Amino acid sequence: MQRRQFVSLPAVQYAAEAAKAAEPELVPSWPVFDELEETGLKAVLRSGKWGRGNGGAVAEFENRYAALTATQHCLAVANGTSALLVALGVLGIGPGDEVIVPPYTFIATVNAVLRFHAVPVFADIDPLTLQMDPKRVAAQITPRTRAIIMVHMAGGVGELGQVIELGRKHNIPVIEDAAQAHLAEWQGRHVGGHATLGCFSFQASKNLNSGEGGAVVTNDAALAEKAFAFHNNSRGRTQPGTEFHYETSGANLRLTEFQGALLTAQMSRIDKQARRRSATAKKLDEIFSKVDGLSPYHVAKECTRNAYHLYMFHYDAAKFGGRSRGDFMKYLATKRIPVSGGYAPLQDEPFLKNTFETRGYQFAYGKNYFEKWRKRNDCPANRKACGEAVWFTQNLLLAEPELIQKIDKTVESWARIR
Ligand SMILES: Cc1ncc(COP(=O)(O)O)c(C=O)c1O
Repeated sequence: MQRRQFVSLPAVQYAAEAAKAAEPELVPSWPVFDELEETGLKAVLRSGKWGRGNGGAVAEFENRYAALTATQHCLAVANGTSALLVALGVLGIGPGDEVIVPPYTFIATVNAVLRFHAVPVFADIDPLTLQMDPKRVAAQITPRTRAIIMVHMAGGVGELGQVIELGRKHNIPVIEDAAQAHLAEWQGRHVGGHATLGCFSFQASKNLNSGEGGAVVTNDAALAEKAFAFHNNSRGRTQPGTEFHYETSGANLRLTEFQGALLTAQMSRIDKQARRRSATAKKLDEIFSKVDGLSPYHVAKECTRNAYHLYMFHYDAAKFGGRSRGDFMKYLATKRIPVSGGYAPLQDEPFLKNTFETRGYQFAYGKNYFEKWRKRNDCPANRKACGEAVWFTQNLLLAEPELIQKIDKTVESWARIR
């Protein structure tokens, strides 16, 4: 089997340092592929049908992914960001609208809202799970709220039921951002199809990977039709290529046939890989339960399967004589264990102020809107979590027991230093 070195796109300081030092024989590289992918790619190449307009590989993947996620409609798109753009686009999100999002997420969740000149409103996280807290969601709902995005952070699921219930009560659609959550389940059913629309990413670091790629799933036939037209520059599924008549605005967010073929091949491995990640996560839970000061983050009781895109745990510096998380991560890096401190607090990042100061935002919301927005969007739990969380990436969870034993010894020896 051929293997390639995995490079995470949103690289974080320590992850980069450790990745360089990682022992290739201990930390599995990503992606995993063999002749199956080669055969699929060659078939597309030789067919000369490289776009979904005349090929069948994207449609085949869509059928398989709809079956996997137990949803009625799946639309493959160019990437996870595009999936969010399609979801917000078909819900008609625009200037003046507020969209509730968690602050502990990849920036794409927020960028998608900003692309429509709408206002992202942060609902702070539950410090025990790092998932969006439904109580904070309820507190942020206003007459302007037009959508709620629930992110299944790291492949775990938070209180999705409570968020969906809030959406129902206030007549606000809920989007599941499941970019990190392939095979995750809530109440025994795959994520993505519980709310109005579900969005996935198949970017290179993801548990299901075609280099770039994404999907939108839904059980709403009318939204599915709108989604197709949105991602196809306003052209509906049945509109002949020769007819130039448009009802709505859209963009070209299509996936290529090559990626469709790759995804179908990659799907043949995901269940086995997911089982292996879960088994490793269980061992890591046991290792951390022995060390006072390290604890894995919780998932909701109704999360019946965790996808473990990341294994996230909490570092309590007070339990280690004040030695910082940064020092702990450096220690792991020197032992050639790749580790990351994860996200910076999104609500404090300058992109928000800079965006609210653009001509479009000032036109829509007035000159001093950012100051008003900031008062409503301070998220103390998120700020604290961003300073205390530690991540292992999903490919580490595919490692042989040797690496897990090494992690066990390393955290024990760290705890002994006083
Ligand atoms: C939570 C979340 N949402 C959206 C995205 C965007 O996906 P993509 O990188 O495929 O555009 C990502 C990707 O990292 C993500 O983690």
